[in-house]
Amino acid sequence: MKKLVLALSAFALAASALWAVANPTEALVERISSKAQVCVAGQDCSAEGMAASAQLASASARSGQEVYDQSCAACHNSGAAGAPRMGASEWQTRYDEKGFDMLVANSISGIGAMPPRGGCADCSDEEIEASVQYIIDESI
Ligand code: HEC
Repeated sequence: MKKLVLALSAFALAASALWAVANPTEALVERISSKAQVCVAGQDCSAEGMAASAQLASASARSGQEVYDQSCAACHNSGAAGAPRMGASEWQTRYDEKGFDMLVANSISGIGAMPPRGGCADCSDEEIEASVQYIIDESI
């Protein structure tokens, strides 16, 4: 009887090993998911991880003025391409007519001769919002 059990478990082992070889991806996913939750690359599922990455994001975010100087000043200081100039009364009109959120949305998607995000491809939505806030604070 002992021998039979041994033989059976040896067979089961061999069979699962064979299955694993034949289905390496499925076997891996099953092994991982049976042990822990699967987190997609770039995500941290733990509460501490979420808090840490949120902190990192805010620590590395550029200020509105930094983004403005780097990415917006070229047009908005000079009025190049018909851009409303920093400090111009036109900002009051745009702000009153569209509201802050619309100005931010248009800055992100681009408007007229202004490219999306003012050409700052690596600016986050928050950084664009901060730079629009900076323009408004300095102009209104
Ligand atoms: C290549 C030149 C250029 C750059 C760079 C640029 N803008 Fe503009 N921007 C414009 C022009 C031109 C307009 C006017 C577009 C129109 O109303 O047709 C404009 C308009 C705007 C408006 C008003 C949008 C509205 O809905 O009325 C905001 C806000 C703004 N820009 C923010 C920014 C910010 C923030 C940056 C930097 C991240 C930036 N711009 C960079 C050219 C530029």
